[in-house]
Amino acid sequence: MSDKPTIAIVGGTGALGTGLARRWVLAGYPVVIGSRSADSAVKAAEALKDLLREKGVKGAVSGAENVEAARGADIVVLTVPFSQHAGALVALRDAVQGKLVLDTTAPLVPPRVGTVQLPASGSAAVSTQVTLGEGVSVVSAFQTVAADKLQALEPMEGDVLVCGNKRESCDKVIELAQATGLRGLYAGPLANSAASEALTSVLITINRQFKCQAGIKLTGFK
Ligand SMILES: NC(=O)c1ccc[n+]([C@@H]2O[C@H](COP(=O)([O-])OP(=O)(O)OC[C@H]3O[C@@H](n4cnc5c(N)ncnc54)[C@H](OP(=O)(O)O)[C@@H]3O)[C@@H](O)[C@H]2O)c1
Repeated sequence: MSDKPTIAIVGGTGALGTGLARRWVLAGYPVVIGSRSADSAVKAAEALKDLLREKGVKGAVSGAENVEAARGADIVVLTVPFSQHAGALVALRDAVQGKLVLDTTAPLVPPRVGTVQLPASGSAAVSTQVTLGEGVSVVSAFQTVAADKLQALEPMEGDVLVCGNKRESCDKVIELAQATGLRGLYAGPLANSAASEALTSVLITINRQFKCQAGIKLTGFK
């Protein structure tokens, strides 16, 4: 049995969820992939088990419907599109009480995804905290990390800004960032997530210009 916390990834069949699940399972975290469909979740978990077999490594991964996945986990990670964010939170509210919820959401509003359009609350993560209530410790991170790069399992470099109102919860997410091969940095209270979420549109603009998948790396300290 692992001494690491069990992570449920809501929307874990998608691009970012798949990348994070791969990295965390390989780092020894038990992961439950969540989906609206239990069948899709189980299929995604089986695909990850195949990958582990190919690599000849052990790992604990399973699949479950989103709310069931969240109920059985210590840490719940939200990886659903912004358009589905509010609805997903309402469905999850009871299941995540007392837990750490890691929100990766960048509040992109198509078609102008290269333009910053933060919600009236200030950020998606602040909306998450308001909807889930103070019984949940919401932390925001990973908005600046490209899903494809996580999925590729090549060595990665760069920083992950981690924002949250409880430092202890942020430290747990910093460990999750390190487990992906990136550097996790405490970047202040949850309100500061506005900056990370806005950076996604900035990076999309850079990516379109240079046909790349840029991330961020802060300079001036080690
Ligand atoms: N893609 C990236 O590079 C990247 C990077 C940083 C942050 N993010 C953030 O991560 C989140 C997910 O992005 P993504 O690119 O991974 O999205 P995605 O692949 O389009 O979707 C992720 C998953 O969301 C679920 N979903 C779709 N509609 C839903 C609904 N109505 N209710 C509940 N779940 C629904 C789907 O899972 P099921 O159909 O299995 O339920 C889907 O597999 C976004 O908020 C994005 O801003 C993405």
